[in-house]
Parts: sequence; structure tokens; C-alpha cells
Amino acid sequence: MAGHTDPGSEARDPNAGVDAARRLSLFPVTARVTAAAGNDRLQIGSCDLIELAEQHGTPLYLYDQATLDANLRAYRQALGEYYPGQWGITYAGKAFLCVALAQWVQERGLWVDCTGVGELAIALAGGAQREHILAHGVNKSPADLASAIPATGTIVVDGLVELQRLESLWAPAQGPTPNLWLRLRPGLAVETHTHTQTGQEDSKFGMNESEALEAIRFCREQNLPLTGLHFHQGSQFRDPAPIGPALEKALDLAVALRGKSDWLPQVLCPGGGWGVPYHEDDLPFPPISNYVRFVAEHLVEGCRRRALPLPRLQLEPGRSLVAQAGVALYRVGYVKHTAHQRWVLLDGGLADNPRPALYGSRYTALPALNPGRPGAGPAWLAGPYCESGDILIHDLPFAGVEAGELVAVPMSGAYQLSMASNYNGACKPAVLWLQDSAAHLVQQREQAGDLFRRDIALDEV
Ligand code: LLP
Repeated sequence: MAGHTDPGSEARDPNAGVDAARRLSLFPVTARVTAAAGNDRLQIGSCDLIELAEQHGTPLYLYDQATLDANLRAYRQALGEYYPGQWGITYAGKAFLCVALAQWVQERGLWVDCTGVGELAIALAGGAQREHILAHGVNKSPADLASAIPATGTIVVDGLVELQRLESLWAPAQGPTPNLWLRLRPGLAVETHTHTQTGQEDSKFGMNESEALEAIRFCREQNLPLTGLHFHQGSQFRDPAPIGPALEKALDLAVALRGKSDWLPQVLCPGGGWGVPYHEDDLPFPPISNYVRFVAEHLVEGCRRRALPLPRLQLEPGRSLVAQAGVALYRVGYVKHTAHQRWVLLDGGLADNPRPALYGSRYTALPALNPGRPGAGPAWLAGPYCESGDILIHDLPFAGVEAGELVAVPMSGAYQLSMASNYNGACKPAVLWLQDSAAHLVQQREQAGDLFRRDIALDEV
């Protein structure tokens, strides 16, 4: 990320770079600007953002169901078009999970990937069926595994130790048990921020080839139901090329196993990770169909060359389904001018969205009132937290907003609330679900009392 001061900013055209139409294209598919009483107002899902903020307060997160459905449709159409075998989609719950989203997942017939007992509990509360739940994670604890055995349809095993733990907990007599997949470490990551690369040789995730062979042997000896192979090379990438050699490795492993035993993977999952734009400079959206086509064609061709039957292809997207569906809405507290910068100070930031601080992610924003108004030069949109890294957006050409106005940040649906914190005693925002021109409160705003609900006073211990 560039330096935080911008000595050249005075010389700039104050309107430079404010392209409301391009910014608007990053919002949910239902975003509209409507004229009312001489002003333009931003609407999503036919709901007026200013009214929603008045009713529910800020910071406020909105999820637009029509956008979730549109992105899901893109996956399904592409899989239908390019993959002749069986296929399915697992939603990566870590991107954002709440009961309402788990219900959406269940209603749409998706599987949901849960990491740990917490995400599993949310998925179950949303009515996700056992067969549709997949347990993920590195270093799953005995408690994670014990809760996953009766409650999930699939466990993706990260290493041999997990398999041994699983074997000791396995109790088929007590009801249905999950299928097992092995997570491979292909030795190749996708191109993305180093914090979100996972496929490289020294990644903490998954097993190399010899470990996988040993794991398969163990499963066969112990009669454990191994049915699939999995890998995930990283998140927020636009170039699918590294998936090609990783698929080849997984298929080579299948061939090696076919030689040694008669085991073949029934399912192959190359994870998720397809990227999205966050800022107008990142436009256009990388088409979901490009990614799906790449994976499908490589898998079909790889199987053909090795005379392997086509496995079920299970994709595992998170961000590319939910990021665009989410909008974060903040209120401007006041505007401050320092030597070289205009600070637009918002009522949220680092605590509900740590992504700019963690990965240098570059977002954009529009005012909810008159979003098409001219720019007033660059602005630094920052939150209220005691941390200089609490800057939501650096150096963004932005309108001359005033105290009390609302600012809407698009592409806020993935890895924001799921990584939100209570830093400085911040209360997590309320979440609204926008569907059929109505806004439903699906997650209440956290209250100060929630922050010490787990505490026990010293005179009570
Ligand atoms: N499958 C596995 C095994 C994963 O670990 C992940 C993401 C996904 C699928 C879904 O990836 P997606 O389609 O959402 O990119 N906090 C970071 C992202 C971490 C991704 C973790 N794993 C961020 O905010 O960019």
C-alpha cells in the first residue's frame, strides 16, 4: 500500500476519479439510484439506505438475496455447461455465516463447509441437513471431530493425526457416519496475498503425496469410508492456471492408488478462492464461468488421458458468492483536515472490517444521498478505533460529505463480519436481509451487555 501522505493531492482535479457509475457496479445487482424530492438516493433491493440506517442504526450490514442468487446461478450454469459428470457446490461458511444465510444455503440445496464447532452450530441452527454439512479445518481438535462425526456428511481430513483421532472416536453403531476426504497439499499456490495462499509446499494445510498415500492405507486398514480428494490453493485469485497442475497431481495420485488397490476418488474438490473486485480499478468482475470452465475442462481432459471415470466435481466458493451481496453502511461523525489529508471519520472500520489492515485491501464507497455528486478531492475514510491502522479506505477520490451523512461500502459481504472483533468494546453491527423489496433484521446489533456476558466478577469466583 502506498504512503499515507499525498503531497500532490492539492494539485489534483477535485473531481478526478469519482466515477459513480463504476462504483455502483460493485454494489448488489439490485442497487439503484432513485430521485426523490430533488435528491438522488441509493436503494438496494428496493430499500432506501437512508431509511434503513434511521430504523436500525449504523454501522449496518445489508445482504441482498437477489445477488446471492445471481452468483449461485452463474456457478450452476457454468457447471451445467462445462462439466458432464456429477457436480455440486459447497458454500464456504467462513466467508460469512449466520442462521439466515445457513437457511438460504439449505433452501438452495447447497452444502456448507464449517470450520470448528461454532460454525457447525450455526449451520445446524439454520436447519442444514447432516449430509450437506462438511467439516473443514487444520488441527481439528478431538472436540471438533467428536461433534463432526454425528453431525456432518463429510469430514475433510487435514493430516494423519486427525485420522488417528477420528478412528478412536468412530462409532458407526450409534448412527450414520460421515464420508472422509483427504486434503492434499499440491505444492503450488495461486497468485494472491501471502496471507491467503494455502497450496504451497510449506503451507500448514493438507498432506503431501507420501502422507496422503499413508492416510489412504490407514483408511483401508481401519475400514474408514474414504471417498474423496480435496485441495485449496488460496483465496482471492483471478488466474486459475495453478489449478491445472494441482488437478494433475490429484489425478496422478488416483492412478497410483488404482495400481496399488482398487480405490478411486468418487469426489474431487479443488476448493474455492475465485476472486472479486473491491475497487473500481479492479473492474470488471472476473467471470465465474471462466473459473468453472477452466477447472471442468482440465478435470475432464485429465481423466480422459488417464482413463479415469469422472469424479463428482465439488466446488467450494465463499467470497465469489457473498462478497457482492453485502454492503456496509456507516455514518460520518465528522470530517477532519490535517496537513495533507481529508479524514472522513466513520462510526465503523477496523472492528467490523479488518481486511484493509490485514491484507491492504482497497475498497471504494459512495454517499447514500446524491451518490453521483462531484468529487471534492481525495479522502481517507477511517473508523473510530484507537489504532492508526483503522483506515477503511486510503486516498479515495470522494464527494464532499458532511457530518451525519451516510457512506455505503460495496463488496462487504465476505470475511468482514466473520472476522469482526470487539476491539475498543465495539459492538458488532446489525445485519439486514434484503429480499422481495423488504428488509428483515437477521442479526441484532450487539449490545454493550453482550461484551461482558461471559465475565465472572472477582467477588463471585
Ligand atoms: N475452501 C477452503 C478450504 C478454504 O480455506 C476457503 C477459504 C475457501 C474454500 C473459500 O475461499 P473463497 O472462495 O471465499 O475465497 N480472510 C481472507 C480469506 C481467507 C480464506 C480462507 N479460506 C480474506 O478476507 O481475504
